[in-house]
Amino acid sequence: MSRQSDQGQSLATIDKERRVGAALAVSMSIANQRFRDRGYVFWHFDANAGSGVNDEIGEEPVPGSPLVFWEAADRILTGMEAVPFFCDMNLARMRRLKTVLGVERAARSFLFPSDNNQALSVFARTILDSGERPEFVVGTALVDPNGWYYRNRKGEGVPSRILLAFLDKFPRIDLILNLNVSTYWKQAKLKHDVISPRNLLTYLRKEYWLVGKVTRGGNTYLQLIGRNMKTDPHKKVGLYLANSWEGQQILDVAEGKRQQPLEFGMPDVRGLSQAPGLSRGAVGRDAAGQGALLMRQEGDRGSPC
Ligand SMILES: C[S@@+](CC[C@H](N)C(=O)[O-])C[C@H]1O[C@@H](n2cnc3c(N)ncnc32)[C@H](O)[C@@H]1O
Repeated sequence: MSRQSDQGQSLATIDKERRVGAALAVSMSIANQRFRDRGYVFWHFDANAGSGVNDEIGEEPVPGSPLVFWEAADRILTGMEAVPFFCDMNLARMRRLKTVLGVERAARSFLFPSDNNQALSVFARTILDSGERPEFVVGTALVDPNGWYYRNRKGEGVPSRILLAFLDKFPRIDLILNLNVSTYWKQAKLKHDVISPRNLLTYLRKEYWLVGKVTRGGNTYLQLIGRNMKTDPHKKVGLYLANSWEGQQILDVAEGKRQQPLEFGMPDVRGLSQAPGLSRGAVGRDAAGQGALLMRQEGDRGSPC
């Protein structure tokens, strides 16, 4: 029976949130290690924030991405101020999020009940108005659209209109994507004009990528962290450099090139705040990917978060 949050859920949600938390923790750990106690802000934009709680599954509600953000921020950002913007086009979910966050966290968050393109431009303007130089601004932009990287005719999906310009303007903001690969497989099979996982990495123009995946409840999710600074893999939490052997296996699976998805073990987020910082990494790029298009989708019904 559906309960209040109704934002598209499945058993995969638990694992997904753990992966979103792990991805956020990677970026926060690196930023905090380098910039703590120097008056820096850690900016965060959540393009598809939802209500903050996923309570349609099991006995215990699973925290949504805004709560996952705050839990990681309070634990990891010991020397930086967290300034998160949470956006959702669904007003009821935003209202509920305000309650779920509680008075203190709500007061320290910006909530936008609007389209994510619009909210992202307000986010950019707010950063610029703060006086920080865009090339030095650090933080994360999370895109968790309940589907693949597209926007449908109703405007549901990713902030595709301004995301690239935003990432170019703020090169130190990491991009975190949580995408439903099962949706991609279905659309690719139907010959929809969908961008492939490797082409997506190229299209989004980040220099370094960590990739991870989780399969649960009949859906496979791909987690991608795009950065412009060299990055270590975080194997304990299932995040691999895109051009490593493991990363290539994950991308092969995401592109449907393997019948049996390979498993690399469940993520372990314990102790991530002590994760090592920046050191040598490698570029994960697909030379064939330039100019790939976002797509039009008709009649797609989304899929569980
Ligand atoms: C997968 S759910 C969000 C789950 C949430 N990130 C979490 O972890 O619990 C997707 C959300 O994206 C919102 N959404 C879809 N398209 C949007 C758009 N163009 N602008 C803002 N929100 C959008 C939906 O209303 C829905 O609440």
